Amino acid sequence: MNPWSCHEWSCPPVPTMVTPEELQYLHWLGSVEWDGESDAVEFAPWLGATTIALASGMVSNPRRKSGLLHTFDNFVWRPFMEPRSKIQRPNGSDFSDLLRANLGSLASSVVMHRVELPKGEHRISRYPLTGDEPLSSANPFDWEPPVPIGIIFIDGAKSYDAMRLVLSRLVPHLAPGGAWLACQDYADPFAYWVPLLMQLNSERWSAAHVLSANTVTFRSVSPVPQGTPRLPAIEDLSSEEGISLLETAADALRARGNPSSARMVQLGICIFLADKGDRGRAIKYLRSLCWRFPLVSRNSRVLREVSEAIERCLEVRVYPRPLRLIRECPGATIRWSRKVRSMLR
Ligand SMILES: C[S@@+](CC[C@H](N)C(=O)[O-])C[C@H]1O[C@@H](n2cnc3c(N)ncnc32)[C@H](O)[C@@H]1O
Repeated sequence: MNPWSCHEWSCPPVPTMVTPEELQYLHWLGSVEWDGESDAVEFAPWLGATTIALASGMVSNPRRKSGLLHTFDNFVWRPFMEPRSKIQRPNGSDFSDLLRANLGSLASSVVMHRVELPKGEHRISRYPLTGDEPLSSANPFDWEPPVPIGIIFIDGAKSYDAMRLVLSRLVPHLAPGGAWLACQDYADPFAYWVPLLMQLNSERWSAAHVLSANTVTFRSVSPVPQGTPRLPAIEDLSSEEGISLLETAADALRARGNPSSARMVQLGICIFLADKGDRGRAIKYLRSLCWRFPLVSRNSRVLREVSEAIERCLEVRVYPRPLRLIRECPGATIRWSRKVRSMLR
């Protein structure tokens, strides 16, 4: 059993986009693994569930001497946030007041920063841009950490360039004795740049905690390697390099007993290839993955989302419809095949 699973903490009722396990884990990370002196950094808090989990963990850490949680968001309300929170706000409005209110007494341990990370120009996105987003130059992320960073929680690097920027600015400031980099989108195929750029710099850290869904946390090596991290522009990364990095990341997850997250990283290869404009290989890769997915799997919904996104982008049908129907209604499929069999008898 993972040590965070038996960690005692009850989460306050704040709307969240992460799983209960991830909240439990962040609290455990702050209260047990944090060194008690370094600062922590979070991208991005939304309404504060992950912020509260991490900050209240840090506050309860018996080693705590100093250290703040710096949390970064553009605080721009988007329509997709409404069904997840049951809160109605105008599109584009500022929601930092909601975070402040939810933090309550933890506000003295949390510093809120308004920044706009690069949105990138991706052919495929889970939340396509609507055109009314604020200019990316409004509050660029050029923050200089005042003290070394012991924890980075990344749940807001929603583009390849955002992940590049976050790593390029923060990696030089990681605590020399070792730091935790918790990547929430690690197993989200629509955020393939997270496993890709982490794998590209694998000499700097090693996977420490693999959660059952989404989050993978790395521990940076000590002493910190010389030189800057390798963060090429996506144009400078070949399809072969990207496939190889993501396949290696998927293999590592499989070796850590998480084949489901490994398949998510492999689905990310399809989106990476489509993003690169490598149409032929994107289709071929997705076709083969459709068959390699288990017939009954909780990831079927993501396979459908990725297929639909790629089919829309490349204007081609990839996911065989019968296979998709079987996956989406396994109960009905089993009942239907029994009925046919009994009729044939
Ligand atoms: C998935 S939500 C974070 C969920 C949150 N950690 C929780 O507890 O559920 C992503 C967050 O990233 C922020 N965000 C999205 N794009 C951004 C950008 N370009 N710059 C800064 N923040 C951004 C959103 O406002 C949102 O709060």
